[in-house]
Amino acid sequence: MRVELKTQLTSDTPDTLIVPCPKDTPLPAEWASSLSAAGLSSALISEDFSAELKEVYTFFLTLNGTHKKICLVGLGDDPGLPQAQAALRSFVFRQRAKLPAKAALYLLHLGEGPSFPMRLMEGALNGILLGRYQIGSMKTEEKTPAPFFEENASLDILLPESLYKQASAISDRTRHIAETQLEIFDLVNKPSNLITPQALAAWAVESGAARNYHVRVLDKPALEAQGFHALLAVNRGSVDPAVFIVMDYQPAGQQALGTICLVGKGVTFDTGGLSIKPSSNMHYMKSDMGGAAAVMGAVEVAAKLNLPIRVIGLIPSTDNSVDAHSLKPNEIISSYSGKTIEIIDTDAEGRLILADGLSYAVRNYQADVLIDMATLTGSTIRTLGYAAGGLFCNNTHLTESLMRAGEAAGERLWPLPIWDDYKDGIKSDIADVKNLSSKPTAGAIYAAKFLEVFIDKHPSWAHLDIAGVAVADSEFASQKSATAYGVRLMVEFFEDWIAKKTEKAN
Ligand code: BES
Ligand code: ZN
Ligand code: ZN
Repeated sequence: MRVELKTQLTSDTPDTLIVPCPKDTPLPAEWASSLSAAGLSSALISEDFSAELKEVYTFFLTLNGTHKKICLVGLGDDPGLPQAQAALRSFVFRQRAKLPAKAALYLLHLGEGPSFPMRLMEGALNGILLGRYQIGSMKTEEKTPAPFFEENASLDILLPESLYKQASAISDRTRHIAETQLEIFDLVNKPSNLITPQALAAWAVESGAARNYHVRVLDKPALEAQGFHALLAVNRGSVDPAVFIVMDYQPAGQQALGTICLVGKGVTFDTGGLSIKPSSNMHYMKSDMGGAAAVMGAVEVAAKLNLPIRVIGLIPSTDNSVDAHSLKPNEIISSYSGKTIEIIDTDAEGRLILADGLSYAVRNYQADVLIDMATLTGSTIRTLGYAAGGLFCNNTHLTESLMRAGEAAGERLWPLPIWDDYKDGIKSDIADVKNLSSKPTAGAIYAAKFLEVFIDKHPSWAHLDIAGVAVADSEFASQKSATAYGVRLMVEFFEDWIAKKTEKAN
């Protein structure tokens, strides 16, 4: 989609104006005479429209001598990026059959200078771009035409002239982020027969080639040679061989301010293995690579935005399948670190492949920050529901920055403890550690304690359990679908981290 910034309503302005309205914001003063000519007024409209979040009110007005369809979209009280994004995404999605190929986002009523709500603009644009997502890309039936969803559709953003330059940078950045988020939607929503470990690797290779960062894929022989024993153990029942994807973005022509290493759980389908899952919700386990997708998206956006940090994305990927060769509960396996693991439950497979990913990270890179993202436990969902990802972190500064980034991105995190009180739960009689605690409580915490065994005391590590947020019920699909949770969260975190580094240096 073409996005252009404009500073005035002219005869070229598209006929459909999308007007985001924070609560109690008056309609644009320059509409007053047109409104009264149409027998309308702000007061009359406010009888029917109170700008609640996602509320929509449509009317027609003659502005500058041309007929305009005005779509007021409510943003509720004190809207920031998440609210603007949610409201505009919902609007575009619901209006898809009615929106023409050209529309304008009208922001001339939101103030000038530093009081102009840039974050609101960013959220609104992000929402409009995500609203165009079509989950039914694999349907062969004729679709209802949606001109605004076509490749050649265009959006004009009308905003005060004084903000043109700043807004133009933010518009570019938002489009980069949104385009990657749309890719992540597809990776997570598409089925496991299409999104295999090889397909994830191919996506990474293509992204690296397009965005000029380095990607290496370790195939099964390489994994065997280098001792990824835990990843290979999970892969034993699979038809598709496991891969380990290394994505490495380094800023060109400038010294990196630091290194952030991300590890993502790339289980392309989780049957549970021999500790097989009940069938009722098993189909959702195509999204068990949501952590991998978030990491891949975060590295891609870092590269697109030329951020002055090195970002390494590590993806252990396999499915978890049932077969005569499958890993069995009771087995003791080794791992990349050399530590032995007693398998109690083959459905606790995510922590096994992450163990190798984390060990690889600490052995091969000196990262300032180490973060893993994984759809790791149902326990996190029972604890936090669908409102936030679980945050397990051994560093208070990192906890704080991640929580702040999550709040700003509308992708929340909430901290849970990793005290050594929980250490007993993963003690094994016969191996260094076991993959499941025998206690019925605090499953998400034991999983985090398990991962901690493999970080070699890294002083700044965070584990994000995103089982409840990688996919969500929404108005956009009849079943749970991808949220791209983690992409914007990481971008906001990177930028915050860079700002702090730069501050310290000055
Ligand atoms: N992929 C699942 C976790 C999960 C559950 C993600 C629900 C999204 C929604 C993970 O591999 C798993 O099976 N976890 C088990 C662990 C248990 C065997 C200790 C769980 O949470 O039930
Ligand atoms: Zn599992
Ligand atoms: Zn899993």
